[in-house]
Amino acid sequence: MLNCPVVARITFLECSRCGERLSADQPRTVCPQDGGSLYVRYDLEALRGRFTPEMLAGRVASMWRYAEVLPDANPVSLGEGFTPMLPSRHYPNVFIKDEGLNPTGTFKARGLCAAVTMASAYGQKKLAIPSAGNAASALAAYAAAAGIEAHIFMPRDVPMANLVECRTYGAHVTLVDGLISDCARMVAERRQAEGWFDISTLKEPFRVEGKKTMGYEVAEQLGWELPNAVIYPTGGGVGLIGMCKAFEEMETLGWIGKERPRMVSVQSTGCAPIVKAWDEGKATSEAWPHASTLAAGLRVPKAYADYLILDILRKSHGTAIAVTDDEIMDALRAWAAHEGIFAAPEGAAALAAYRRLLASGFFKPEHKVVLFNTGSGLKYIDVIAAAEKKAPAPRAIGGIIGPY
Ligand SMILES: Cc1ncc(COP(=O)(O)O)c(C=O)c1O
Ligand SMILES: [Zn+2]
Repeated sequence: MLNCPVVARITFLECSRCGERLSADQPRTVCPQDGGSLYVRYDLEALRGRFTPEMLAGRVASMWRYAEVLPDANPVSLGEGFTPMLPSRHYPNVFIKDEGLNPTGTFKARGLCAAVTMASAYGQKKLAIPSAGNAASALAAYAAAAGIEAHIFMPRDVPMANLVECRTYGAHVTLVDGLISDCARMVAERRQAEGWFDISTLKEPFRVEGKKTMGYEVAEQLGWELPNAVIYPTGGGVGLIGMCKAFEEMETLGWIGKERPRMVSVQSTGCAPIVKAWDEGKATSEAWPHASTLAAGLRVPKAYADYLILDILRKSHGTAIAVTDDEIMDALRAWAAHEGIFAAPEGAAALAAYRRLLASGFFKPEHKVVLFNTGSGLKYIDVIAAAEKKAPAPRAIGGIIGPY
């Protein structure tokens, strides 16, 4: 464990549906009663006043700087987290949280780092994951570092980088003719016979723990004053759920008050189940038929914990918005050309959403808004090149992309 004077013990795992409390002494997936996702709960009261923001000064520049509120296990770390919070050069109150600098180039590193850390602590030997691509790459890397087998199921048409990475890290890869939901079904069918532990999104409690560190970083990097809003490209919603958990924890620790950012989910019009449910005022979503978008990470027809995502949007007075793949590509080019940030299409969707919400008056220019660029565009070279070939960007003299 990192050298921290106080450590929050995990007290129990709590079902997000029925409140059932389960011990964390053994690996768990979901609530045995109702399939609800499990939250990891710590004795935070014991930390109040003993773990303070001042103690973070000079600590490791990774998510493990918050070790007191992470599992007390030996981290399988590749240097994940504490990514830059870049003030936009164009929009005065906009900040870009650039998750492209993580190991394996996306924010998925955080969740898989925590999940593999715990798998290693529990002595697990074989992990399986259905993935849209980036979670697979992250699992493959952390499993390699931990000496654990990774069994990966992802759609046949994943971005090329994901496939090359997974194979190079030595993972067992199965390409599936279908979507992440089909991959999940295959993992569920085979896991028992194969002795795999399933670390699917929101079916494994520690991925949220890794992702929650984004919430701690948003607060720390903005001087412990939360922004007015956060725009988050939403597939399974792990980061959104994790950040809101972090805000709650920080309030319990006495680090922040009751104020919360408005949480905004952005999806692609080619796969927008959360947006549809939000627009219809529903508490859960329906599986999106024929999901298709170049933002591979947003191609999630039905999020397992959709009920948590929708609850967060409602309670935080946020919203959900769908943008087209053309808007995504336009935003991707604009970010690169005007900010020097080569974003993943999912991250670019956050900029596309901001532009729309600014135009609609949902945001005023004085609102402080954090846009999550969840990954590096370098993971999507083949996807971006293909989109560019299909519909080349209009270029002005000097090669500068049109208005930002
Ligand atoms: C780059 C990127 N952004 C966003 C997402 C969506 O993440 P979440 O499942 O946390 O909603 C993914 C998921 O694969 C992704 O790879
Ligand atoms: Zn339950």
